[in-house]
Amino acid sequence: SLVPSTYDMAAMGVVDYGGGPATGHAHGAGGLDVSTLRGPATGTPDVAVTLTAREKDGRYTLNDTSPGPEIRAVRGQLIQVTLVNDNVAEGTTLHWHGVDVPNAEDGVAGITQDAVLPGRSHVYRFVAVDAGTYWYHSHQVSHEQVRQGLFGPLVITDPAEPPAAVDQVVTVHTYDGRRTVNGVAGVAPLAAPAGQVVRARVINTDAGPMRAWVSGAPYRIVAIDGRPVHGPADVDGRSVIVTAGGRIDMQFTVPAGGAARIEAGAGAALTIGNAPASPEPAALVDLLSYGTTAPLGFDPGRATRTFDYRIGRRPGFLDGRPGLWWSVNGKLFLDVPMYMVSTGDVVRMRISNSSGEVHPMHLHGHHAVVLSRDGAAATGSPWWFDSLDVGDGESYEVAFVADNPGIWADHCHNLQHAADGLLAHLAYT
Ligand code: C2O
Ligand code: CU
Repeated sequence: SLVPSTYDMAAMGVVDYGGGPATGHAHGAGGLDVSTLRGPATGTPDVAVTLTAREKDGRYTLNDTSPGPEIRAVRGQLIQVTLVNDNVAEGTTLHWHGVDVPNAEDGVAGITQDAVLPGRSHVYRFVAVDAGTYWYHSHQVSHEQVRQGLFGPLVITDPAEPPAAVDQVVTVHTYDGRRTVNGVAGVAPLAAPAGQVVRARVINTDAGPMRAWVSGAPYRIVAIDGRPVHGPADVDGRSVIVTAGGRIDMQFTVPAGGAARIEAGAGAALTIGNAPASPEPAALVDLLSYGTTAPLGFDPGRATRTFDYRIGRRPGFLDGRPGLWWSVNGKLFLDVPMYMVSTGDVVRMRISNSSGEVHPMHLHGHHAVVLSRDGAAATGSPWWFDSLDVGDGESYEVAFVADNPGIWADHCHNLQHAADGLLAHLAYT
């Protein structure tokens, strides 16, 4: 069964604080090999980009656009991004959302680097290890900076995969109550002749879940959070939820009439030909059973760490401010113990939510796989994710391999919620 038998949460209340069964992995005297925490220091980058962050009237841009420029690389290439802060007073950073980069490249102000102050710059270097759809955004005062524009799309393509004729990023963002696709409010045209295959890479950069679907043609969900779906079946007349921070790649063939629409929530779309607006389908694709099973590459039944991540709410003080704050395992941020792991650990985590709201939970540096929801085991393709909606009253069990040493945030991607305490860290010993 995929469902756990026991949880060892004796130590430190509910958080496993190490001292679990030996992992069988050898550790040096100091534990971590520090050289693995950074991207390659030498080597000519294959993709080199400079992004200049700027603030004007409370809006943020990168190279004077929002979304910032699309960064594209091929798997295996070395990416180098120089972040220049022109005038963002509180400082800024870039986090590579969904890319399992070495820890020092993760862009989390206060954890992996200091915020880059006005007039300063910072260079990020990492190898594009995993193909997929990602995005980048500020991780400093991110609930303001991301909402107000400091983000952009990042795509890593797989040279071994036949490319779609039209490979299109669909970056969705709401500015001041107006939903946009690739920076354009409402509906924008997309050129794609009948018979061609279109891959639509939908990126939800907003704070809450959105629905996406294709009208005029059946489509397949070919990737979730940058990881391929195994055995995707045609979907017709159903939509799929894109978690805040999450990505869904939808693929379809433009039908004979040459008309189809990529719908990105109500009122925002890319239209091919003269496709009419379509009503939002009531039915949803359930990713728990979508696609066909495939090996995970590790055995979640042999977990060496088992953690609870219980999301709640309680009154208390955060940064000295009294309020009703989000809590993790009954604790308020700063007092939430770190989730301690060692390299090689197989980690199972049960994320449950009784807080009254949905929380799009985002784990840095790793992809985890969904094992079950509310006790019902996953039956479809391995559902790898870095961003997962956990609804009120829901409980997900997930698993991952601790294979990327460092200190990693695990927080709600409704970024105001993270600022209000829904934030914990995973740390390697
Ligand atoms: Cu996309 Cu910690 O964030
Ligand atoms: Cu939340």
